[in-house]
Amino acid sequence: MIKAAVLGFGTVGSGVVEVIERNNEIISKRVGDDLKVKYVLDLREFPGDPVSEILVHDYNIILEDPEVSIVVETMGGMNPAYEFTKKALLAGKSVCTSNKELVAEHGPELMRIAKEKNVNYLFEASCGGGIPIIRVLNTSLTAEVIEEISGILNGTTNYILTKMAADGSEFEDALKEAQANGYAERNPEADIMGKDACRKIAILSSLAFGKHLSWERIYTEGIADITAADIKYAKSIGCSIKLLATARSMEGGRYSVMVSPVLIGPDNPLYSVNSVFNAVFVRGNMLGDSMFYGSGAGKLPTASAVVGDVVELAKHPNDNVMMEWSEEPMDLIDQGMARSRFFVRVNGTAAGKLPDIQKVFGNVETISIPGFTDEFAFVTQEMSEQEYKEKEAKISGILNMIRARI
Ligand code: HSE
Repeated sequence: MIKAAVLGFGTVGSGVVEVIERNNEIISKRVGDDLKVKYVLDLREFPGDPVSEILVHDYNIILEDPEVSIVVETMGGMNPAYEFTKKALLAGKSVCTSNKELVAEHGPELMRIAKEKNVNYLFEASCGGGIPIIRVLNTSLTAEVIEEISGILNGTTNYILTKMAADGSEFEDALKEAQANGYAERNPEADIMGKDACRKIAILSSLAFGKHLSWERIYTEGIADITAADIKYAKSIGCSIKLLATARSMEGGRYSVMVSPVLIGPDNPLYSVNSVFNAVFVRGNMLGDSMFYGSGAGKLPTASAVVGDVVELAKHPNDNVMMEWSEEPMDLIDQGMARSRFFVRVNGTAAGKLPDIQKVFGNVETISIPGFTDEFAFVTQEMSEQEYKEKEAKISGILNMIRARI
């Protein structure tokens, strides 16, 4: 019998207990042994809930029980999750988690401890909820040199942008609706400011490129400045605006990683990823393009990914599953050198202003839409961020700029 302990009986933790109970027969068959949750750790009481029978409030009970070989950390946040994870690994127990903050901050250290103790630290559910991408990077794509890993990694912002595009609503109204429908957290700052997607791309790019990328080093913009007008312009040329997290391999062993809203066209596989769905696009040098799509959040999809890790841990009791993520820092290009096209909205009329814009930006594509008489938009040729900034300073009346991959 394999015995696990679940730390935290919140949304994901209770989902883990539910998945293990409901699918116990098939899970135990796949493990090759019975799998049981022996303890659930939480500070709260759950009167009337069957979990009360296995509920403990003292972590030492789990730590000191030699029967518990797997610890499932679904507490979230940094502390005490970090301390509990470290203690479990040092005690020779394997750990799996959905905690992206912890993985992004301490992943390489925790993996090193796991390796030293010949156990494992797995985190499939930390990126893209139920989308199996971490194991794909660690197993199926190990013959590839990964050239790019990009994605829509945040369900809340994708829901908001999809809603704005469908209804023509402004950001604040779409956010309120997302909150009313339970899609956005009461404090959605980490989502809308791009920080949640930033942590996820830090994890994915560290695994794809094998070196540690601290999330604080990633240039990150959220979606709070995207307006209904921006989306109307994008739609008029058949494009959508998505919050993309992008990591690309550049020359000289360096990488370009950023999170920002991006205008994309229908030829981009991420174009039709709508609502709360997430998708991860991977370009390999042999494989070419591939994409992984699914529920990026939610109790049972996330819990399913966590339990997939539990099965993996149960199958590798004293055998470290190798992951390429060293503690050596990733070499990033200067953000000013990152290249793209730029969609720019500017006040005035094309007839009056275009000659000046062309003098600065050269050949641009202009966009005018009915009802917008005192402004228009243009899309530049590809250039570096630094070049764009220098040119932008020479133009007056810029209303908004969004990067464009079209
Ligand atoms: N707040 C996250 C999202 C949850 O909206 O995608 C999953 O990490």
